[in-house]
Amino acid sequence: MVDRAYTDRDLAELYNPMNPWHPSDDFYLDLVMGAGSVLDVGCGTGVLLHRAREVGHPGRLCGLDPAAAMLDQARSRTDVEWVHGDLSAVGWEREFDLVVMTGHAFQVLVDDDELRAALSAIRSALAEGGRFAFETRNPLARAWERWTTTEPEEITNAAGDLIRIVTVVETPVTGDVVHFTDTFTSSRWDEPRTSRSSLRFLDPDSLRSFLSEADLVVEEQFGDWNRDPLTDTSPEIITIARAGHR
Ligand SMILES: C[S@@+](CC[C@H](N)C(=O)[O-])C[C@H]1O[C@@H](n2cnc3c(N)ncnc32)[C@H](O)[C@@H]1O
Repeated sequence: MVDRAYTDRDLAELYNPMNPWHPSDDFYLDLVMGAGSVLDVGCGTGVLLHRAREVGHPGRLCGLDPAAAMLDQARSRTDVEWVHGDLSAVGWEREFDLVVMTGHAFQVLVDDDELRAALSAIRSALAEGGRFAFETRNPLARAWERWTTTEPEEITNAAGDLIRIVTVVETPVTGDVVHFTDTFTSSRWDEPRTSRSSLRFLDPDSLRSFLSEADLVVEEQFGDWNRDPLTDTSPEIITIARAGHR
């Protein structure tokens, strides 16, 4: 089930103000501009593909997302293909030179079966020699231990209303899936709105093994957006995998 933060229109509209352009977007934009055809899985509000078109990408750009409230914002640009759904709903075969999953969208794939099915669909969608680029947070850096808020985050929506957001990680954390809630409060709403999320923190060995099962070979791996090597203390596991030879 997709988090309420993405399906509730009032909450989805806060996504862009809460997530301004980031060095990770520059990293992916560079890859996108070097690829003829691109699929962005979990494209959300479509910011990456919007920018790629704005700066002159001439080829096929396609964004896929199961949350209509996110995708409707992406649709403000009509020169990009937008598909509502997830990888279980599509049947692309050898169509894209690059598939990306950005903004830690990869971590929403929490079950083994769901992850295997998604990777298999990504492999099928890749053209000969195509690449899959994505990031997942390094479990050794234990980012979730810093997510529970001490002071509510405050953001102003398009109508000028102040929204307060409180994040609480469910403890104890056991295994590699972290569950947490974000509670949004506004004086305009009758009651607070809570979105519950589950994110998987795969370690590098398990990640490599799931990729290899899907015929995706790790080509490059970085630990941060400066392209530094992956170490135990790196915040991210940024992976570029190439489709194997079938
Ligand atoms: C954190 S947002 C990232 C959005 C965008 N990639 C970015 O970097 O701004 C995660 C996105 O993944 C989408 N999502 C949730 N479940 C998904 C699934 N099973 N397959 C693909 N996308 C999914 C959500 O609707 C949401 O738009």
